[in-house]
Amino acid sequence: MSSDARPRVFVTRNIPDAGLEIVQAACDAEIWTEPLPPSRDVLLEKIAGCDGVLSLLTEQVDAEFFDAAGDQLAVVSNYAVGYNNIDIPEATRRGIRVGHTPGVLTNATADMAFTLLISAARRIVEAADYVRDGAWQTWEPRGHIGLDLCGKTIGIVGMGRIGFAMAKRCHGGWDMSVLYHDQYSNETAETELGARRVDLDTLLSESDFVSVHVDLNETTTGMFNSEAFKKMKTTAVFINSARGPLHVSSDLHEALCDGQIFAAGLDVTDPEPPAADDPLLSQKNCLVVPHIASATVASRNGMAEIAANNLLAGLGRKPLPCWVNPDVDEDNGTAQD
Ligand code: DGY
Repeated sequence: MSSDARPRVFVTRNIPDAGLEIVQAACDAEIWTEPLPPSRDVLLEKIAGCDGVLSLLTEQVDAEFFDAAGDQLAVVSNYAVGYNNIDIPEATRRGIRVGHTPGVLTNATADMAFTLLISAARRIVEAADYVRDGAWQTWEPRGHIGLDLCGKTIGIVGMGRIGFAMAKRCHGGWDMSVLYHDQYSNETAETELGARRVDLDTLLSESDFVSVHVDLNETTTGMFNSEAFKKMKTTAVFINSARGPLHVSSDLHEALCDGQIFAAGLDVTDPEPPAADDPLLSQKNCLVVPHIASATVASRNGMAEIAANNLLAGLGRKPLPCWVNPDVDEDNGTAQD
């Protein structure tokens, strides 16, 4: 890129104006405005020769992607806090900076996890469908019985920012005891919420509700499988607002069908989106929403701003405000003009 040329970037979807305006003011930007993501072939064509890409979780950012973009690619800025769609070691090796959007979606995501928990426990969608279907005839003393939440035990798998925010809601609002499983201890959770760090088996067997908040990686993929569901209480509710492949869909379906657990609330599925005939979708005790945990005005605008600022910093070969790979191999990056 010559010093007077504006950097060329591709934005893989129509993100909020709060971010687009920042990008468009500084770059020669092409924005993909279709509702569905570009096909792989189109994506690889669009990124060829770009200095930066603002990507979404729907894009697989790997060696093929980097090859198609070319050696001048300086930065990939993911419009998400998670970055399991990006091959980070490969980006780092190639000197490509990678950014993400933590913090601004913590409360919205924890709100969604709690919404799923209370909705699944109280069978809200099932009951609303009953009314819509015209089936409501009288007040039913034994109908639509759900679970109590107050004073129960919440099990948080992954006590990071979002796990902590979910635990805080459960403890502060509903007086729940908090168990957590994490490779690190979280002193704030232990001091402020009385949280107890336990092994996964203890968490699964002692929790009334289990909410997962870990990253998706090789060790966490499929961690909620038949074996895990069998260890949970038959009255347990399983909540996943993190990544679909953390649970094994067929095992979850079996656990819900066989009464191994009471209900599940999912913001994420595997695959995503699920097929129309995915058995989980017709399971009454499974509540599924379309990966909308961060879908609030403040969260999405905040994510857009951070993603845009990460992009611009990377184009300038500067530290990214929210940088996934600060250990990037500078020697491999293109020298700044
Ligand atoms: C993320 O940011 O990782 C979410 O899954 C989408 O907001």
